[in-house]
Amino acid sequence: MTRSILVCGGAGYIGSHMVRLLQEAGHDVVVFDNLSQGHAEAVTGTTLVRGDLLNPEDLSALFDRHNFDAVIHFAALIAVGESVAAPDLYYRNNVCGTLNLLAAMKTAGVDRLVFSSTAAVFGNPLTELIDESHPLAPINPYGWSKRMMEQMLADMAAAYGLRSVSLRYFNAAGAHPGGEIGEAHDPETHLIPLVLLAALGLRDRLAIFGEDYDTRDGTCIRDYIHVLDLASAHLKALDYMEAHPGAHTFNLGNGRGFTTLEVIEAARRVTGREIPVEMATRRAGDAGILVADSARAKAVLGWEPRYADLETIIETAWRWHRAPKYGPFAEGR
Ligand code: UFG
Repeated sequence: MTRSILVCGGAGYIGSHMVRLLQEAGHDVVVFDNLSQGHAEAVTGTTLVRGDLLNPEDLSALFDRHNFDAVIHFAALIAVGESVAAPDLYYRNNVCGTLNLLAAMKTAGVDRLVFSSTAAVFGNPLTELIDESHPLAPINPYGWSKRMMEQMLADMAAAYGLRSVSLRYFNAAGAHPGGEIGEAHDPETHLIPLVLLAALGLRDRLAIFGEDYDTRDGTCIRDYIHVLDLASAHLKALDYMEAHPGAHTFNLGNGRGFTTLEVIEAARRVTGREIPVEMATRRAGDAGILVADSARAKAVLGWEPRYADLETIIETAWRWHRAPKYGPFAEGR
């Protein structure tokens, strides 16, 4: 079934991969993005509307012009460390922005939303693997902002019948194997791109944030998941909402955690390059270990990751970072 889908934040890293999958599946897509982190070059073959969730007029113009069956919402600030330093920025952009989007959807009668949530809603885990029943106890404003948005969706399901699926991403990484789109944040804060930029000599050395965590080598453990595997779960979520009213949540990861040092070792193997590192202090807001139990997404959504292997994830990212088509390290910048 062809659907008309609004992708908020569709010029960004995960959003642009989502747009590709939607196009391949034959859906009609409109991208709404303020281009604060996104790149216009990442959006091809579809309409890009430049606008801001914080401007209700931008949203009413968008919804007046198009009839959407559903919205997929990626437009949020995502850096844990920054959220500790500037919480107001995170609450305004993420929470107020989402509230504006929900108001515009309600006025327009659009009642289906797939929402980018995060493992950061859990805080420090109480169990080795985190499933959906794990308590929500964020330890940074970023995680709190996403938790608040999940709560808004649950309350609006009860009050107005809004249908939603919140997908809690663990650590998104990798790029489309075609090499045309990839991760290009400015500044970059994520581990895998920073490791690859160090391998390319575009950064001096990688600072490892903390070597005193309670893990096998003292560095943080994360569950890295390929960006296209995240995107494919959204397609499943769109179908799921048709038959299932209410607000639903799913955790998305590969169920395997790697320490920061293990990621660096894997990147050395993939790239064959030196990756200079230095030990640094812990980064504010970081949990020690975050690993997903995604059994529910597999059983209920019928989701199955295709690029689960860490080296495969890094290889696809490496292909992109060696020749990025846009972003701070694109040729000609
Ligand atoms: N790290 C370093 N040095 C760096 C960058 C990162 O040691 O220069 C470490 C971090 O301390 C962390 C790990 O590498 O332990 C991964 O850090 P990222 O910044 O790549 O990712 P985060 O785990 O902080 O956050 C990401 C997303 C969030 C999401 C979270 C869920 O940015 O939106 O994954 O796990 F909430």
